Amino acid sequence: MKIKKYLFIVLSFWISNIWAGPIKATKSKQSMDEFVGNLMSKMTVDEKIGQLNLSGAGYVVAGQEMNSDIAKSICKGQVGGILSLKGLNTIRELQTVAVKKSRLSIPLLFGLDVIHGYETTFPIPLAMSCSWDMDAIEKAARIAAIEASANGICWTFSPMVDICHDGRWGRIAEGAGEDPFLGAAVATALVKGYQEDFSSNTDIMACVKHFALYGAAEAGRDYNLVDMSKTRMFNEYFLPYKAALDAGAGSVMTSFNTINGIPSTANKWLLTDLLRNQWNFKGFVVTDATAIAELINHGMGSNMQEVSALALNAGVDMDMGSQGFVNTLKQSLNEGKINEDEINNACRHILEAKYKLGLFGNPYKYCDVNRSMKDTGTQEHRASARKLATESFVLLKNENNLLPLQRKGTIAVIGPLADASNNMVGTWSVAKNGKSLIEGLKQTAGNDVKILYARGCNLTNDEKFQERETIGSPLYRDNRSKEEMLKEALEVAGKSDIIIAALGESAGMSGESSSRSDLRMLDVQQELLEALSKTGKPIVLVLFNGRPLVLKWEKENIPAILDVWFGGSEAALAIGDVLFGDANPSGKLTASFPQNVGQLPYSYNHLNTGRPLEKGQWFRKFHSEYLDVSNDMLFPFGFGLSYTSYQYSDMRLSSPALNADGSIMASITVTNTGKRDGDEIVQMYLQDVVGSISRPVKELKGFKRIHLNAGESKQINFTITSDLLKFYNDKLQLIAEPGEFRVMIGPDSEDYQSQSFKLE
Ligand code: NOJ
Repeated sequence: MKIKKYLFIVLSFWISNIWAGPIKATKSKQSMDEFVGNLMSKMTVDEKIGQLNLSGAGYVVAGQEMNSDIAKSICKGQVGGILSLKGLNTIRELQTVAVKKSRLSIPLLFGLDVIHGYETTFPIPLAMSCSWDMDAIEKAARIAAIEASANGICWTFSPMVDICHDGRWGRIAEGAGEDPFLGAAVATALVKGYQEDFSSNTDIMACVKHFALYGAAEAGRDYNLVDMSKTRMFNEYFLPYKAALDAGAGSVMTSFNTINGIPSTANKWLLTDLLRNQWNFKGFVVTDATAIAELINHGMGSNMQEVSALALNAGVDMDMGSQGFVNTLKQSLNEGKINEDEINNACRHILEAKYKLGLFGNPYKYCDVNRSMKDTGTQEHRASARKLATESFVLLKNENNLLPLQRKGTIAVIGPLADASNNMVGTWSVAKNGKSLIEGLKQTAGNDVKILYARGCNLTNDEKFQERETIGSPLYRDNRSKEEMLKEALEVAGKSDIIIAALGESAGMSGESSSRSDLRMLDVQQELLEALSKTGKPIVLVLFNGRPLVLKWEKENIPAILDVWFGGSEAALAIGDVLFGDANPSGKLTASFPQNVGQLPYSYNHLNTGRPLEKGQWFRKFHSEYLDVSNDMLFPFGFGLSYTSYQYSDMRLSSPALNADGSIMASITVTNTGKRDGDEIVQMYLQDVVGSISRPVKELKGFKRIHLNAGESKQINFTITSDLLKFYNDKLQLIAEPGEFRVMIGPDSEDYQSQSFKLE
């Protein structure tokens, strides 16, 4: 018995030391500061600089990790973390190299773009935001964290919270659209989902990106400059970053753009004055990929040594992929171009992140094979993804209640996106496939529906365009002529009662490096849709897209349009759920859909001009407008239909006046006047009528996603306090100014009832 006990103690001691290496953070009262300070006192300058290096893994053969080049760098203490590596065994092996073969056994961070799920894939973030369902979004992030953390990942490059007013920018797909209030709520929900309690092994560290203003890249062209007033930054674009930080996000990623002429990665005002000193950020700052090297192209320096020193001095802690820190900082230190305090600060921030994650206590915390098998892609996770996908779809048009479809007759499913399992998950997906639309419809339609299929056309006639899809799996190209494909499509259409046209963008057409200058349906797809429409058969356009598109012709000519974005691994089943009425669509747009690309950039919460048009008015000479298109959006922010109908009535304010420290209640009654139960997203907008700076025509300041059974009414209340009325004035002071405020409540940003009150 005594021997057994002795063996047990020895074994436990041995296991904990294998886990922790020679330096171990015990669960004692030893503070993080002490622990990190103690560790740093043992580190050479080179080892400290090594921690600042976030490297790709390069070429690693499974089973041969120990012999890889990256393993050699890890042994020398030249790597602080590895990005974009998937595969539990390889991650575990490389962690073992760090723990067993590097001098101080400092574990590595493993970071990945887990931006809408890991193996279970949720809708792309833009789509997720259209659910306005913060609980579901938080849960999606939780599930992503559970799955990623079971597969070696302790750090996600998410949330991406860049506000965007311009659908030409392909990366609008990765964020929450155009509104800062909603964007802040989504950012908070995502961070809470990823990282609430690092003592658990299912929480991973969030990384808020791209700091800052990346979504305002000029002309919607990726990596382009941003030029913006400070009042706009503070009143709009900064809000979601700040919200994510307030929710505790442990890291921040710099953006590629310039701000006031200085790239974010070299911008001391942004990274030090604002982020560290004003916002009191305690985590670590990583650059975006190769952003330090790119400072040379930006004209900020002529060699890697110069720009690396610049980035460190500005406040960057970790260099993603440029190898500038690891290769040049020592020399800069020797030449007095940087000082050791800066290296120490950066190193400390990174070691603190490792400490907070619990990696010193157990470097293999995120490498549990049993958890990987048990927790990845579970039925329960997939059910959540399917539900959130149904909530993210936006019903843009439904003439004569064409939808939902009845479960009988023959349906022709036509289009290049109908049978494209590799196209369902969308940009930045860890998993590569979901069921194709055809498979999903077959599974959800039931036995009484016959489903026919024709491809109809390729994604586009332009082969070169298709080749340029860089991220995502390119769509297969059919070698038949477009005439042949169209003929087949019309034959299939002729045999059917209804047509589902599966058209739009491929997954690779949005996301990074996928800007577009024309947002209309692509050439052959437009021709196909027009030809199908001439058959006179009812058509449902099931639209795949990673951004707002220009759908003018479609809105005028196609009776039903369901925007399904890229709905993730369960998208196909979710589309079936909505098309056949098992789920009632409830999503509402979080980015306005323009009438044409020339209206961009646009956001519903713009400032007024001195010569505005009245609502619904066009054209009035010498007013702020276009000769060739009205100022209206085709589908405004907040818009989305349902299979039922809602009536808004009886808007009230509890008082016509608000004291600075008091509150008033704005309420409205919403009634489900249709025959189906449904969820409605009730939106409240405010306008500060007179201010010391020009204030937006309206700003979202509250929303509620509610459930109403058919025939049911509910009174919906919003509390308004002076905090909600605050904004940054031209001295960048956060204040609420007394005077008149308009409150607007309704189903979208253009359809509302309004009342006014005074802030005293
Ligand atoms: C570049 C992208 O801009 C960023 O969003 C991403 O997190 C990194 N690459 C890492 O993949």
